[in-house]
Amino acid sequence: MKLLILGASGHGKVAADTARLCAYDEILFFDDEKRGVCGDWPIVGTSDDLCRYDGELFVAIGNAQIRSELCRRFSDRKFATLIHPSAVIGGGVALGEGSIVLAGAVLNYGAQIGRSSIVNTCASVDHDCVVGDFCHIAVGAHLCGTVTLGDHTWIGAGATVVNNLSVCANCMIGAGAVVASPIAVPGTYVGVPAKLLKKASETQIG
Ligand SMILES: CC(C)(COP(=O)(O)OP(=O)(O)OC[C@H]1O[C@@H](n2cnc3c(N)ncnc32)[C@H](O)[C@@H]1OP(=O)(O)O)[C@@H](O)C(=O)NCCC(=O)NCCS
Repeated sequence: MKLLILGASGHGKVAADTARLCAYDEILFFDDEKRGVCGDWPIVGTSDDLCRYDGELFVAIGNAQIRSELCRRFSDRKFATLIHPSAVIGGGVALGEGSIVLAGAVLNYGAQIGRSSIVNTCASVDHDCVVGDFCHIAVGAHLCGTVTLGDHTWIGAGATVVNNLSVCANCMIGAGAVVASPIAVPGTYVGVPAKLLKKASETQIG
């Protein structure tokens, strides 16, 4: 199977390495700025060249805004959904098109993940969580049971969201934070318990 990866990034390398384990035997990168190789794989062109290639598409851009714009631009393509073989996927889990679950991650019973979201290395999403589109649960972050995340929300490395809470769309939760009460105002939150650092108009969701 052939996979076209848009974005010759560090995340792109990890996505390619995961795809290799998911039986994609031809992996090609596309990037608007970089040339040469990305890890073990060739960069064969820019986003404008994608139309000349068949195969499934994966968008490996960390910035949620850019990722969603690219998914919209290429909405006529089939997007690959990638699950590392070491991830644990419980019963009743639903994973949207274009999402990726990386090594050692756990999605427990009934977790719902939207489109083009990232469940990064050793992150966990517990039972009955609902994660929106273009979200990122970073390395080692944890969503306890029945947590809801709005679209474009990023949970930083090692952060925890306590059970039954909602975090609205367009939030950035800092590395190591503990979200201990619901978040309804888009923005960046840090600390234990997590407090507002800046509102979304000043936040770049990366
Ligand atoms: C929260 C975050 C987005 C803030 O980035 P920023 O907007 O550039 O903020 P700054 O670095 O200017 O920091 C602003 C203040 O917040 C503090 N701060 C930043 N991140 C923090 C964090 N995670 N926890 C506690 N305090 C934090 C800084 O120390 C600084 O405090 P000061 O004003 O008293 O000096 C960023 O620090 C972060 O945690 N990103 C997550 C990275 C990550 O998880 N990557 C995962 C890759 S898989």
